[in-house]
Amino acid sequence: MISGRVEKVKPSATLDITAKAKAMKEKGEDVISLGAGEPDFDTPEHIKSALYEAVKQGFVYYTPAAGIIELREAISEKFEKDNNIRYDPVNEIIVTPGAKQALYEAIVALVNPGDEVLIPDPWWVSYVPMVQLAEGRAVFVPTYEEEKFKLTPEVLQEKVTRKTKVLIINSPNNPTGAVLEKEDLKGISEICIDNDILVISDEIYEHIIYDVKHYSIASFDEMKERTITVNGFSKAYSMTGWRLGYAAGPSNIIKAMIRVQSHSVSNATSFVQKAGIAALKGPQDCVKEMNMEFKKRRDTIVKMLNNIDLVSCVEPGGAFYAFPNFSNYDKNSFKLANFLLEKAKVALIPGGAFGEQGEGFLRLSYATSMENIKEGVRRIQEALEKNG
Ligand SMILES: Cc1ncc(COP(=O)(O)O)c(C=O)c1O
Repeated sequence: MISGRVEKVKPSATLDITAKAKAMKEKGEDVISLGAGEPDFDTPEHIKSALYEAVKQGFVYYTPAAGIIELREAISEKFEKDNNIRYDPVNEIIVTPGAKQALYEAIVALVNPGDEVLIPDPWWVSYVPMVQLAEGRAVFVPTYEEEKFKLTPEVLQEKVTRKTKVLIINSPNNPTGAVLEKEDLKGISEICIDNDILVISDEIYEHIIYDVKHYSIASFDEMKERTITVNGFSKAYSMTGWRLGYAAGPSNIIKAMIRVQSHSVSNATSFVQKAGIAALKGPQDCVKEMNMEFKKRRDTIVKMLNNIDLVSCVEPGGAFYAFPNFSNYDKNSFKLANFLLEKAKVALIPGGAFGEQGEGFLRLSYATSMENIKEGVRRIQEALEKNG
């Protein structure tokens, strides 16, 4: 009864363990969660006020499918200021209910059945299902701990075929925290230009970055015309539940995405769009403060993980995840995550949920209090030393 397309899409491999952790918590067990994929801060007050005001003023109706023009203008200004790219707010920008919807619309708009989509492995859990729903073929490009999980042009080139249409990149990366620097992006751009590959660049963690500057691949020569840059408000402004994101790219692709959006979700919620203007145009101290807190936590969690015997953890340059190698304890990350949930009462995500290259690793989110981080890692270390 269910279509072949949807049958193919598997539920997230993390559901089991998160359901188990939830059940344990409900029974009153003291479970520490290092599994969250969202900031633990409240949305800044001035953004909330803009939403209340919009509702009070009756801004409660459908908007243009592409989003209200004031927000698209604010996004265009943001791209110019932060990323050094000029996008026309009328033709080259779409506002979406979350970055996830923008990614989905870009993939549906570009991928024909059988087209190959290159995805660096480990990969964020929704890319492959989205490609499957478009009946495309996901082709994995391995990234390695030894290279800090950066996508390298050499490995990328090996995976290019005549059927390659799109490359998805995500920097800073979920789950590895890897950041692609200027030189990395230059090498990747050259391959995309030489092989006529379109790029979907997921930059949702742009502002959660610690030691280096974020670069958008669309700002490189000859890349703007082949790149759809996806971003949003969830992570930078702690607005995951608000569902607000956007994409910018060539007008013909944005137009196609608007078509998909207008026939599916219509538009991002009207008053949430008004709050988005306040986020982009208001004070940015909140973004910096959250970033500083995440950096302190990153330094702590990475140090503690590297202090565990036989564990190695690459220092993540961005996002809020540590991705340590626990393969000396168990090569099966699902088994190890279950063991740690039962024995240490710590919930985390098995690296295998993010693809073959993630096997043997665990994803620990540090979007939680310093106290939870310290106690969580202490418990992991104790459980491994006792039973390891
Ligand atoms: C890599 C990546 N891209 C996109 C998203 C989706 O973001 P949004 O909440 O804007 O849909 C997430 C959320 O976890 C993510 O980790």
